[in-house]
Amino acid sequence: MNIEQLIANYRAAGQGQVFAHWAALSEIERTALAGQAAEIDLAEVDRLNQSLVFKASGGGANLDGLAPAPCTRLPANGGDTAAWAKAKELGETALRAGRVAAFTVAGGQGTRLGYDGPKGTFAVTPLKQKTLFQVFAEKIKAAGLRYGRPLHWFIMTSHANHAETEEFFTTNRHFGLDKGRIHFFRQGRMPAVTFDGKIMLETKSSLALSPDGHGGSLRALDRSGALDLMKAEGVDTLSYFQVDNPLVRCVDAAFIGFHLGAGSEMSSKMVPKAYAEEKVGHFCLQDGRIVVVEYSDMPISMQRETNADGSLRYSAGSIAIHVIDREFARRMANGSDGLALPFHRADKKIATVDAAGRAVKPDKANGVKFEMFVFDAVPSARNSIVIETARGDDFSPVKNAEGVDSPKTCADDQLRQFARWLKGAGAAVETDATGRPRCAVEVSPLFGYDAETFTERWAALSPKPAVTDGLYLE
Ligand code: UTP
Repeated sequence: MNIEQLIANYRAAGQGQVFAHWAALSEIERTALAGQAAEIDLAEVDRLNQSLVFKASGGGANLDGLAPAPCTRLPANGGDTAAWAKAKELGETALRAGRVAAFTVAGGQGTRLGYDGPKGTFAVTPLKQKTLFQVFAEKIKAAGLRYGRPLHWFIMTSHANHAETEEFFTTNRHFGLDKGRIHFFRQGRMPAVTFDGKIMLETKSSLALSPDGHGGSLRALDRSGALDLMKAEGVDTLSYFQVDNPLVRCVDAAFIGFHLGAGSEMSSKMVPKAYAEEKVGHFCLQDGRIVVVEYSDMPISMQRETNADGSLRYSAGSIAIHVIDREFARRMANGSDGLALPFHRADKKIATVDAAGRAVKPDKANGVKFEMFVFDAVPSARNSIVIETARGDDFSPVKNAEGVDSPKTCADDQLRQFARWLKGAGAAVETDATGRPRCAVEVSPLFGYDAETFTERWAALSPKPAVTDGLYLE
């Protein structure tokens, strides 16, 4: 790498401030800074400055011709029972054939939770305090056993948490999974810029870099060679979920079957919004395509619109669970067919240095981060479909340290799910008005990971244990 040329390029792009402290750096520091600087696509930063930073904020989403997206309803809500059964069969056939891999995006910074470590290493289960990664590992293992084909599991990390994540799996002996089938890869990163579009330093010798959003997963799958590996292994379908949601069905046969049956390139799960202004993306239809409109982009009046029967018109909330076709991911990643995910702007507090090189910890937003969102790929997908799922069976993320979507609400939702399974299988369980059991119980995914698998195992238990505090079924 020619450092002189690199610095000249930065100066020519109006980004010479990146090397402001160059004279005071050691050789090692210079090499580190130059390495990071060489990673940046200056033309891309310039384009983003023009389109996102220099423009007055709030360009707003295009809401022209928006209508609610069509959704496949659950049988309990009027969906076609036979269609669900057929989809499940189709999905199971794909799972038995080894066509499906699990895919977890775990490259986020988890700032709201404030936990020091990769989020997947955070303990979430009510009794055994299993970590998020362990819960997923056990669900993936159980599904592999059920379908007679161990699954490949792709895990996207960030530069910041990659080594720690791998180490965590090694220390835990990959939770009994074949380590040859767990694939870690890093997502890309983007520099933060000031409101004047200047690339920021985190220290005198490093850039303020952050992960490029969960939408970066499509590029990262391609760049890392993961898509080629899938192809070689006969995997053509990815079951995508986020690291913060232990309730998720890591692989859901019916969902996979609906996706495959429709010839869809990217499919999504939705839950009916809990209330009009719930902060979730909305599945909508626009120009014949499914799109996700964020709550912040949808006027409140639209969020509150109702149908003749009083139900919410825009009720399909996005919960970040998708099935993605391998070759669609490749097309999105390399921008062929003019397909590329857009970047979004997020104004954030970014730790940096002042002109004298002293550390600055801002107390209000002082710069802009650029992120891609995976749901922006939905409108580019052919035959995209949306299916309904029950919130209690698929979604209870840990986002915040306290309050909504916190470890407490998530543990309670797990307890409610275990109680529902137990009751459904005929066990006597005392619950409160919200369905939360009065005693702490836990079900290992290896015992049962949904109502069906649970009921099968419970039926085979003899004698059946009493449901009392501390009951752990494994
Ligand atoms: P969030 O939007 O909740 O972001 O990510 P976050 O970074 O984890 O948390 P906050 O906002 O700082 O509190 C949703 C999912 O997308 C992943 C996260 O790991 C999580 O599974 N993600 C997010 C990535 O993999 N990469 C990113 O760049 C951003």
